[in-house]
Order: sequence, then structure tokens, then C-alpha cells
Amino acid sequence: MKYIKTDISNGIGTITIDRPDALNAMNSEVVLELAHAFQSCINNESVGVLILTGTGEKAFVAGADIKSMQKMNPEQALEFGKTGQNMTKVIENSPKPVIAAVNGFALGGGCEIALACHIRVASENAQFAQPEVHLGIIPGWGGTQRLPKLVGQGEAIEMIVSGKMVSAEKALQIGLVNAVVSLDHLMKTVQGIAEAILRNGPESIALSLECIRRSSELTLVEGLDFEVKSFSHLFETAETKEGLTAFVEKRHPKFRV
Ligand code: CAA
Repeated sequence: MKYIKTDISNGIGTITIDRPDALNAMNSEVVLELAHAFQSCINNESVGVLILTGTGEKAFVAGADIKSMQKMNPEQALEFGKTGQNMTKVIENSPKPVIAAVNGFALGGGCEIALACHIRVASENAQFAQPEVHLGIIPGWGGTQRLPKLVGQGEAIEMIVSGKMVSAEKALQIGLVNAVVSLDHLMKTVQGIAEAILRNGPESIALSLECIRRSSELTLVEGLDFEVKSFSHLFETAETKEGLTAFVEKRHPKFRV
């Protein structure tokens, strides 16, 4: 791959968007490569958790590639938008948790990719924005849908219609990120979160993610029904037997080989 690096070690797949000359901005090629890298890690049995970051100390992703969008007609914009949305769905639907290590600017499509991840940790220099209105466009990779769900409609509307930058500190305050750490400690912090996740059962993790995902599509009654059926289903699995038995036997469960 030209723009994406993948490193797999000790159950953690680390995917890095590597286009530093353009602050990791994403044209169609980068988008397709990123979706492909995620799908490969999702299919890889040795990977239990994923980390997404950007190359360099300045940007996570500075957005969709503005230079490539400048030449687009409406049909091409539709295709580009759908390709980006499909990539965010691959991330969001991953049965393995995805942690965004936001190491700098997360703007436009970059903020939207972070929103599709399950957990977000930012470095102190990170800045978030949906600056599309400065360009006479709107967010096209899920910002209008996922941002209000995460931070509430008021904060989301202000970010989207003003396009203003939000500091890492403010992002923490509004719930846009789970934690803020120094840039030097960013990867160590997300690796620590990944290692804690890897101690847990993969099937119960995947089903937890699916229940939570469905909560934004189903009514409360339907969501509770899906949750209790999933809860019950796990009792057919070796993973659940191991987890419950290990507690009773006062030992650590062995969920992964
Ligand atoms: N697309 C294409 N190239 C980009 C880019 C982008 N989104 N962001 C940065 N770059 C390029 C710059 O053009 C520049 O390249 P050249 O040296 O070849 O000119 C290089 O990256 C470095 O950028 P700057 O010189 O501008 O760096 P800076 O430190 O002065 O400013 C910045 C940094 C504030 C992030 C500024 O680059 C910027 O505002 N970038 C655009 C951010 C943006 O608007 N993103 C949203 C895009 S729209 C979108 O994402 C739609 C969607 O929902 C899918």
C-alpha cells in the first residue's frame, strides 16, 4: 500500500495513515487503502484490537483532499462521499474495538474518521473541527450524523456551522474524546487501553459493540430485546463458560490462545 502502514504485534493491529506531505489528507486512493487495511485486520485472527493514527507530530488527518474535490462534479462527489462513508462503516462495524490515537489535526473527514472509531484518545496538540462550511460544503463522511450523537446537538451544531477549531481540552470537556495525554505518551496510553481490552473475551466484546451500535437504530424495547438475546446466546459459548468458571475457581480466564 502507498499511503497506509499496518503493524501487527501481540494482538494489536496499528494502522497509520501515511501522507505527511499533505497532513495525511485523504483522496480516493487513501480512503480505499484505509478500508482495505481495516478489513484485513478484521479478518486476521491474530488481531484482537485496532489502533488508528497518522504519521507525524502535526496531523491525524487534515480531512478529505481539497485539491481532488476542487475538480469534482456532483456525480463524482456522490461517489467520493459514498466511498468515504463506506470506509467509516467498516471501522464502526468492526467487531474488534478500534481506538483512534489522535496525534494532531483531526479536521473534516479526519474528525469524521475519529468519530467512527470506538474510543478516541487525543494528544494535547490535537485540534478538532468540521470546517467544511469554510469551503462551501458540508461534512460528507458522517459528521452530521455521528457528531450530535456523541457530543449532543448544541455542541455539534456550533462546530458544524461555525467550522471553528476545538482544542483537545474542549474536546475532552464535551465528550468528543475519552482522554488527553501528551504527544509523547499517546501511543503508550492507547496501547495500554488495547492491552486491557485483549484480556477480555472476543465474543463478548464483539456482541457488546453490536448492541451499542444498534442502540442508535432501534427503539429502547427492540434494543433491550436484542441485548437480552445476545446475553443469552453467550451462554452457549466456551468463552462464557471459561469466564464464569475462572471467577468461581479464583483464577484468570484464558479467552485467547
Ligand atoms: N486537502 C489537501 N491538502 C491538504 C489538506 C487537505 N484537506 N490539508 C492540508 N493540505 C496540504 C496543504 O495544501 C499543504 O500542501 P502544499 O505544501 O503542497 O501546499 C500541506 O498539506 C501542509 O499544509 P499547510 O501548509 O496548509 O499547513 P499549515 O500548518 O499552514 O495549516 C491546516 C494546517 C490548518 C490543517 C491547513 O492545512 C488546513 O486548513 N487544511 C484544510 C483543512 C480542512 O479544511 N479540512 C476539511 C476538508 S473537507 C472534508 O474533509 C469533507 C468531508 O467531510 C469528507
